[in-house]
Amino acid sequence: MKEVFDYRDDVLFVDDLALSDVVKNVQTPFYVYASRELVRRYGEMRTAFASVSHMHCVALKANSQPALLRPLVSEGAGAEVVSGAELRLALEVGFSPDRIVFSGVGKTERELEKGLAADIRMFLAESKTELEVLDELARRTGRRARVALRLNPDIDPETHPHIATGVSTAKFGLDLRSAQEIYTRHGEFKYLDFVGVHSHIGSQITSIEVLGRNADLLAQWVRSQKEYGVDLKYVDIGGGLGIRYQDESVPSIHAYAERVLSAFSELDVQIVTEPGRFLFGPIGALVVRVLYVKQLYGRNFIVVDAGLNDLLRPAFYGAYHPIVPLERKTGPVVTADIAGAVCETSDVFARDRELVIPKRGDYLSILHAGAYGFTMSSNYNLRPRPTEVTISDGEFRVVRAAETEDELVARALGVAR
Ligand code: LLP
Repeated sequence: MKEVFDYRDDVLFVDDLALSDVVKNVQTPFYVYASRELVRRYGEMRTAFASVSHMHCVALKANSQPALLRPLVSEGAGAEVVSGAELRLALEVGFSPDRIVFSGVGKTERELEKGLAADIRMFLAESKTELEVLDELARRTGRRARVALRLNPDIDPETHPHIATGVSTAKFGLDLRSAQEIYTRHGEFKYLDFVGVHSHIGSQITSIEVLGRNADLLAQWVRSQKEYGVDLKYVDIGGGLGIRYQDESVPSIHAYAERVLSAFSELDVQIVTEPGRFLFGPIGALVVRVLYVKQLYGRNFIVVDAGLNDLLRPAFYGAYHPIVPLERKTGPVVTADIAGAVCETSDVFARDRELVIPKRGDYLSILHAGAYGFTMSSNYNLRPRPTEVTISDGEFRVVRAAETEDELVARALGVAR
């Protein structure tokens, strides 16, 4: 299949637009997203799940750029949110409350109240105390809340330990025995309706067997709850499907859907998914400019104008991202480290990459950065968060301007707003 970011005559293109045209107008660093490809990927997901009642709740933590979320709303997507602000943003961009699920291990009372007021589809609850708090808030405000318990099934997702969530040592969800106790005594929560069950076991999972095992467990859970008089309507299988950053072999969305759906063939439930990386990862890149090229004890360093404050994944997880020039040149190939500008040794986007040595002023594109890129950016080193640009039909649009030094300094001085 054609890549989203692809060369034509040695110039990197996205959707009929050369990125070298964008850098003439937009200062680096900036994130660029191929909007049409996002909608195409969402469509692929919908087709893969077409045989069952389903709802794809997009994980806003992967990417919450409204210009990308709105087309997904039009396609009928739902949202998975993890904070009060994500919930508000989801509502603002038009997600129907009936298609919003609220997860997170540490929801505050205020956040729970907001979810109650919006009458969202369901809260994905992670502890008995959270249920008690929610029950009390619902009583006080004269509402009812729909809930699904998040199970921690203790399945090894065979991924980076930082993003393994369904293992017994992780903080997420409820162990199966505690969850069972709650479902058995669900009647004690007078203002809660136990409508579903949830399990998200991790991210960047490349084994469908692992994701399939999670689905099997959830299906078995639905069956066994019937004995306790709990008729679960929604099964939220989470997100987690991996993408190819380097040379991973990844299952297709169709193979994934076929495997997980096989678990539910006998059950009358709606399948909820929470895709993040699968949708957004491949459609985004971080475009950076080369500031300095230097050698240090014989090692080549290419220093660029972005840093771990813009894209944390390489420093935080040792994650691999392909890095390619906006204009391909011929010349001697060297091995170099591509380093960020932040004052941290770990702020290196790539180690030991082979590439034609660029010059100061050349541009590079850090690929597969559409998920957990901008959303994990920060102001470390008092650096502004970068610009975001969408590309569609051969045109680019700045959808979020970079923060300015003025804004950062004003806020630091405590005089902002
Ligand atoms: N649902 C829940 C409850 C989650 O915690 C997550 C991700 C998702 C869905 C979406 O998972 P996905 O389909 O994107 O794998 N910052 C890390 C990833 C952290 C994932 C956190 N939870 C990274 O950059 O790799």
